[in-house]
Amino acid sequence: MAITGSGSAVPATCLDNQGLTKLVDTSDEWITTRTGIRQRRLAKPSESLTELATAASRKALAAAGVQPQELDLILLATSTTDDLFGSACKIQAELGATKAVAFDLTAACSGFVFGLVTAAQYIRTGAYQNILLIGADILSRWVDWQDRSTCILFGDGAGSVVLQANQSDRLLGFELKSDGSQNNQLNLPYTSKSISLIQDVNIGQGNFHPITMNGKEVYRFAVQKVPEVIDKALFRANLSVDQIDWLILHQANQRILDAVAQRLNIPEYKVISNLANYGNTSAASIPLALDEAVQHRKIKSGDIIVASGFGAGLSWGAAIFQWGR
Ligand code: ACO
Repeated sequence: MAITGSGSAVPATCLDNQGLTKLVDTSDEWITTRTGIRQRRLAKPSESLTELATAASRKALAAAGVQPQELDLILLATSTTDDLFGSACKIQAELGATKAVAFDLTAACSGFVFGLVTAAQYIRTGAYQNILLIGADILSRWVDWQDRSTCILFGDGAGSVVLQANQSDRLLGFELKSDGSQNNQLNLPYTSKSISLIQDVNIGQGNFHPITMNGKEVYRFAVQKVPEVIDKALFRANLSVDQIDWLILHQANQRILDAVAQRLNIPEYKVISNLANYGNTSAASIPLALDEAVQHRKIKSGDIIVASGFGAGLSWGAAIFQWGR
């Protein structure tokens, strides 16, 4: 399989750190030094995940030279679907990808990497030839904007890639992990109110509680576990760390990016970072950073990229791939 095109889309509304100081007790200096984030894009009430994802996907399809009707599968990695039944089918309709089967995949900030590996298996088995993989999230819907420990971190966006069957397999190695015993470290939980339908028949109805996170623990987990999966993926790919051209980590915190790169001995100039402009866009962060680097002609055909996502679940994973056909 090969990744033959990318695209991205972000909402127009921009909220910088200074703007956040009007909302919670914080400062540009605190946010910048602790996270590296300077601003984030936020979806308007009328903007949908489907719209963002569709816009990113149109660009990815154009870049790959693939018509929507040629798609066999659309995979949407998201935790913030427009519809709990899934949004991938809506995107299929918007794109006019009439032949494609479409479904959502949820693995929080690891969603894009998990989706990439999942999509690759369909191509490897020969089941499908052309796959659209989208990472998209609108976490602003589910952040408590009075909680300064979380609201400063997140932003909205979408990124897409096209995967195609190819003579040589460009997914060189991967490693995926989950640890549900630490699920309580980072949640966006359903909270139910008990309702009695008739005597002895009670059901729960409710909503989702805004994001809760043990920031320190998630930080520690990321810095420890991400280098481990990258090492494992490198081993599987039979590559040494100096053969890597680019490191694209989930864009959560610049300090995490720096610490992981340092542990792996990857020089700073190989680390792709755009979180200053977008914050943590969850499943969108890796394809958004990837697409920007491709647009800026940093990433070129044949470059070897390590992508690693980590987040709620807890889940984490790394995939090593060679860019282009
Ligand atoms: N502005 C000013 N002060 C603040 C703010 C803020 N926005 N937020 C917290 N503080 C204060 C705290 O109250 C605390 O004050 P105290 O010392 O008086 O108690 C102090 O700053 C330090 O707070 P910490 O939480 O210890 O700060 P830390 O250095 O750990 O940074 C952060 C917090 C940025 C959240 C960091 O822990 C982090 O990035 N964690 C990882 C988060 C992450 O990567 N998530 C990814 C997954 S997301 C997903 O999967 C959806």
